[in-house]
Amino acid sequence: MINTTYYQDLTKMNTFGMKVKARCFMEYDSVADLVDIEFEELARPVLHIGGGSNLLFTDDFKGTVLHSKINFIEILEEGSDVLVSVGSGVVFDDFCAWAAKEGLWGVENLSYIPGEVGASAVQNIGAYGVEVKDVIRTVYCYDTVEEEFVKFDVEECEYGYRDSVFKAPEVKGRYIVTHVVFALSRTPQPRLDYGHLRDAVMASSVSLSSDPRPATSSLTHPLAGGGMSLPSDTEEAMMSRLTPALIRKVIIKIRKEKLPEPSVMGSAGSFFKNPVITAEHFARIEAAAKAEYGPDYKVPHYDLPDGMVKVPAAWMIEQCGWKGRRSGGAAVYDKQPLVIVNYTGDAYPEEIVGLERRIIASVKAKFDIDLHPEVEHI
Ligand code: EPU
Repeated sequence: MINTTYYQDLTKMNTFGMKVKARCFMEYDSVADLVDIEFEELARPVLHIGGGSNLLFTDDFKGTVLHSKINFIEILEEGSDVLVSVGSGVVFDDFCAWAAKEGLWGVENLSYIPGEVGASAVQNIGAYGVEVKDVIRTVYCYDTVEEEFVKFDVEECEYGYRDSVFKAPEVKGRYIVTHVVFALSRTPQPRLDYGHLRDAVMASSVSLSSDPRPATSSLTHPLAGGGMSLPSDTEEAMMSRLTPALIRKVIIKIRKEKLPEPSVMGSAGSFFKNPVITAEHFARIEAAAKAEYGPDYKVPHYDLPDGMVKVPAAWMIEQCGWKGRRSGGAAVYDKQPLVIVNYTGDAYPEEIVGLERRIIASVKAKFDIDLHPEVEHI
């Protein structure tokens, strides 16, 4: 069924909470509905949204907004991989919760990312060392130009950091994701190498375990008590107790501590991408930081396989003094400066964009780096 409304209020359909309207809004709940839509006839421009969690509406939308409510999760095949087909309108975290409950590994690190499954495959969402491309097998779409259903195997999606073939300017908007097939697994495969994730998971594995079996020894350590690990309880033994549900629980706790809850304070998650610079450029930045903070100071960074260096934009924004700063209704989030928030709940788009411009200018002046927004401006 297709539901069409005019001058639709979009405030609740964008996590930034921008108070804008769409001239035409169409929601559909089946793959077959797409065939019935006359794409040529729609008021232009046409924008397909998911959970509206990566968008900044800068004005009322003059064209047509489309939204999928295709909502199913279905196991297709149980082999060494468990292939799961998921509708584009499923809330991504509902899929993560379902997988955790089923004991399926693969998406637990992506828990609690706002947005829907269709958009996740376009944006290649990622967190805690995992990107959704790592578990995507096939993306099924409707081609609005040729008016036919097409599929893209993961290699054809040309995934990069928050990037895919679906975002290429020449095809943008042409393909509408209908469903995505993910390859999950019943074989444990925890990915804990990001930051302090391993420590956080190990700590909770001890305190949450209802059955703290002393793995290799029956002796009770005199200091062993509630929430403490036994010396004989090796990391290996702890690893064997891990479940996707437990990792999901830890990830949700970390995210809640660092990122604003969209229902409480509007935002679009990370506002900027983390920039990638040359090793020489990074060396200059590190030398300047050591001169300022002392020789032991270390600038956070990730060395990439190609010799380039990824530097957290959060660190640079903080260094420029923006952390927690307000500008009208907008603010830089005090716990994670990569996030710009609708602090008052009624920030104007201009206030968000003004803050964005000033952050970009000061990072450029201090570090000679151009920050690029991850959030799409509409
Ligand atoms: N940092 C600071 N000050 C802060 C916060 C962070 O200096 O106040 C530095 C720290 O050194 C920290 C580093 O920044 O180690 C990285 O911080 P964090 O682990 O929070 O990750 P991020 O690089 O800032 C990325 C994603 C997030 C994702 C996290 C965790 C991008 C643009 N953002 O942020 O994704 O949740 O990693 O994996 O890649 C999103 O895309 O909306 C999003 C929230």
